[in-house]
Amino acid sequence: MANASKLFVNPHHKMGKINAEIQGHFAEHLGRCIYEGLYVGEDSDIPNTKGMRNDVVNALKEMKIPVLRWPGGCFADEYHWQDGIGPKEQRKKMVNTHWGGVIEDNSFGTHEFMELCRQLGCKAYINGNVGSGSVKEMSEWVEYLTFDGMSPMADLRAANGHPEPWVVDYFGVGNENWGCGGNMTPEYYGKLYRHYQTYIRNYNPEQKIYKVCCGASDDDYNWTRGVLSTTYYKAERQNGFMDGLSLHFYTMPGGWEDKKCATEFDESDWYKTLKRTMFMESLIAGHGAIMDEYDPDKKVGMIIDEWGTWWKVEDGTNPGFLYQQNTMRDALVAAINLNIFNKNCDRVKMANIAQTLNVLQAVILTDGAKMLLTPTYHVFNMQKHHQDAELLYSYVESKPVGLQDDYMIPNLQESASLGLDGKVHITLNNLSISDDYEIETQIADSQVKSVKATILTAPMTAHNTFDSPETVKPTEFTAFTITDNKVSFKIPGGSVMHLAVTI
Ligand code: AHR
Repeated sequence: MANASKLFVNPHHKMGKINAEIQGHFAEHLGRCIYEGLYVGEDSDIPNTKGMRNDVVNALKEMKIPVLRWPGGCFADEYHWQDGIGPKEQRKKMVNTHWGGVIEDNSFGTHEFMELCRQLGCKAYINGNVGSGSVKEMSEWVEYLTFDGMSPMADLRAANGHPEPWVVDYFGVGNENWGCGGNMTPEYYGKLYRHYQTYIRNYNPEQKIYKVCCGASDDDYNWTRGVLSTTYYKAERQNGFMDGLSLHFYTMPGGWEDKKCATEFDESDWYKTLKRTMFMESLIAGHGAIMDEYDPDKKVGMIIDEWGTWWKVEDGTNPGFLYQQNTMRDALVAAINLNIFNKNCDRVKMANIAQTLNVLQAVILTDGAKMLLTPTYHVFNMQKHHQDAELLYSYVESKPVGLQDDYMIPNLQESASLGLDGKVHITLNNLSISDDYEIETQIADSQVKSVKATILTAPMTAHNTFDSPETVKPTEFTAFTITDNKVSFKIPGGSVMHLAVTI
């Protein structure tokens, strides 16, 4: 095929491990993410196990959810964990000031979160409270969660029905402390970070807690530099006392002031959105370059613990609940971001889409007992083969597409890995909404034995509803030819593909 775009993958050129946590999730006490979404309580008519919705848990397990971040978000810096333990009827209620001013009854707390992670088989990422908490409160939470033996907090945990300690994989020291988490300056937060993290004790040296320092949003490089220059002061600790530094970036093409509709948009909005999404590459490079100055060996992970689209809420819903629909455009946003994270796996060690259910770019929507999988869910399910795989050198010939000079993007984008199953996994996106492209995939120095491929494709505004939950869903793709080390096919406009190549 003379006009085909060449997609080149070298299975012998390995470029580092893609941490499974790159496909992580985030669940905040916000709108219907926890309550109604993940947790309905044991007395609900909706089938559940210890209060967790069975349908939701099964769907998240199917896409191999690797890690879940909780309880916020902005909520984290107002959350007092001791209010969420003990008999539910005695738990203190609070006003969720950030998200709709609703009453939070604390019926989902530490025990429920750790039970949810157990059911999901995923790692736990807990975000502590710096903004309105104390060092004592944070340190006692870690003791409550992880201390094995006799101690005031371990005894309290046992009295509340869980004598065994849990494993906490990741712990965040505050959230967005430049904004909702206390409106701090980078230097002030940097000092607090040094102080707070001291008391996140590793009670079990075999299960070290990965400490995440609060990083910047968007291109606030000043925050990154200010925090690192404070935490690395005197360089008495090689890693600035941290294992990871976070970054938040939402795809919001109209900005905060002009949130766009999730489902009604034109081709120009399509390209603006994908262009904005691709800014993630520059952010990883920009913040990564500052991190390199302090941490040239890349020991500290970039933890992109909030990302995704942020649209206008659906009509008739509480504006504080951030409930939005999810189209084929969101699928491309997810597919582009996940490919970018894969390609930057030397620095990006975890990423958490915001948010798992019923909030922002959710993978699942629920309505009472009904549940649907969004196009974004299907992208995660197609990408799961990259989890813990080896990133491979890959390259796709691309050309600019778009309607306006300022919003041109590459027509094709890819990443490839050598999976734990020994197969070469390629995820390829066609960012053009109108044009199909012939692709000639070449797997270097290999004989292609067989290919199994899946495609997600639909008109750009297509989405799943409770009346029609399978409008957008992946299908098996068989329209390819194999010759020696080449796989040739045509990728339709606006689509996401996964190829599993046996060599
Ligand atoms: O995900 C919604 C909110 O976005 C989070 O609470 C906050 O951290 C961010 O601003």
